[in-house]
Amino acid sequence: MSQYSKKILITGGAGFIGSHVVNHFVRKYQEYQIVNLDALTYAANLENLKDIERATNYTFVKADITDKPAIDKLFAEYQITDVIHLAAESHVDRSIEDPTAFVKTNVLGTLNLLLTAKENWKAAMSSHRFYHISTDEVFGSLGETGFFTETTAYDPRSPYSASKASSDHFVRAFFHTYGIPVVISNCSNNYGPYQFPEKLIPLMINNILNKKALPVYGEGKNVRDWLWVGDHVAAMDLIFHKGATGESYNIGGNSEMKNIDLVHLICDLMDTKLGNQPGTSRGLIQFVKDRPGHDLRYAIDASLIKEQLSWSPSHTLMQGISKTIDWYLSNQEWLDHASSGEYIRYYEKHYMKK
Ligand code: NAD
Ligand code: DAU
Repeated sequence: MSQYSKKILITGGAGFIGSHVVNHFVRKYQEYQIVNLDALTYAANLENLKDIERATNYTFVKADITDKPAIDKLFAEYQITDVIHLAAESHVDRSIEDPTAFVKTNVLGTLNLLLTAKENWKAAMSSHRFYHISTDEVFGSLGETGFFTETTAYDPRSPYSASKASSDHFVRAFFHTYGIPVVISNCSNNYGPYQFPEKLIPLMINNILNKKALPVYGEGKNVRDWLWVGDHVAAMDLIFHKGATGESYNIGGNSEMKNIDLVHLICDLMDTKLGNQPGTSRGLIQFVKDRPGHDLRYAIDASLIKEQLSWSPSHTLMQGISKTIDWYLSNQEWLDHASSGEYIRYYEKHYMKK
């Protein structure tokens, strides 16, 4: 008899959101064994996990979710009871340059995990849980008004969101066809510590620190609904433990902002924190060629999770951005490591062609 009440496979646990999830579950639930599977792509960083890497209820396994025999072996070895699936190719701009990698990991990788869960859990299916972490981008693009709800029709418009939509469909298909006890959440844009500096907020912070141009796509009028990563993790904890099987939950920060306004906010806060003359960082802004198929606006109606699970975001965007900037200022070594090597090559290729 195992000493652990659950043996949870968390995929993508060395990435941005995944490392927050792993840190949270390992500390809070010592009665669970946490097995973190990650292929350690460019987006991963084991430094994010240094505080828990020696915890007795934690194990890291380097493996690729597209490698079915490796997943089979891991399920057998650890007798996995539950999956929290975050591993993905997650950056829209990269998906425009190489859609195939997104189909491999996000679609085929998810299918592998579902197949392995189905094969291993058939004796007592209902005691398990397969929690799939998805995105609001599957719903497409909103106009100036309206919100995405759980019943909004899927309308993905980038290779990234098409691959995530496809993975959501497979997860639901496995619920209806094979009875896999799934739950899905579709979340808006996360931000906070450990986010790789290819994404808007850490990219701007990193470039301000290095006095580099701040590339704003198009006219900067696109709107995103920003959520502090810790609030996403709190929502995930509730959904994992109390979410209704077969349900999907939308998660959002109730914090919509136009990109240009957000970049101005980051510039002004950075100038204050760095002791720069007001307006210094705004001088680095450059409007560059727009992202092809750039979704205009995302906004989440999170009333279902609020009503069913009593979740609501704890941080305003202002509080969260200020904390995020403070974290990056105190962890410049992390930023330097993340933005060296392969990332420099990607950055030059992506931004120099514009
Ligand atoms: P990330 O890119 O920071 O991390 C992804 C992790 O997955 C990395 O550690 C990477 O090494 C790992 N990975 C990639 N391919 C893999 C493979 N084939 N096998 C095993 N591991 C692999 O991503 P993130 O921003 O932390 O997003 C995590 C999840 O949350 C994704 O599924 C994403 O679609 C979803 N999501 C993200 C956001 C956001 O704003 N960042 C919002 C909503 C949903
Ligand atoms: O909505 C959830 C999604 O949010 C997640 O599913 C994705 O994994 C995550 O990457 C994020 O997608 P976005 O495309 O919205 O995030 P990104 O940080 O790439 O861009 C945010 C906005 O900023 C978007 O409108 C594009 C714009 N942008 C981005 C970059 C990198 C710029 O103007 N300049 C930039 O250099």
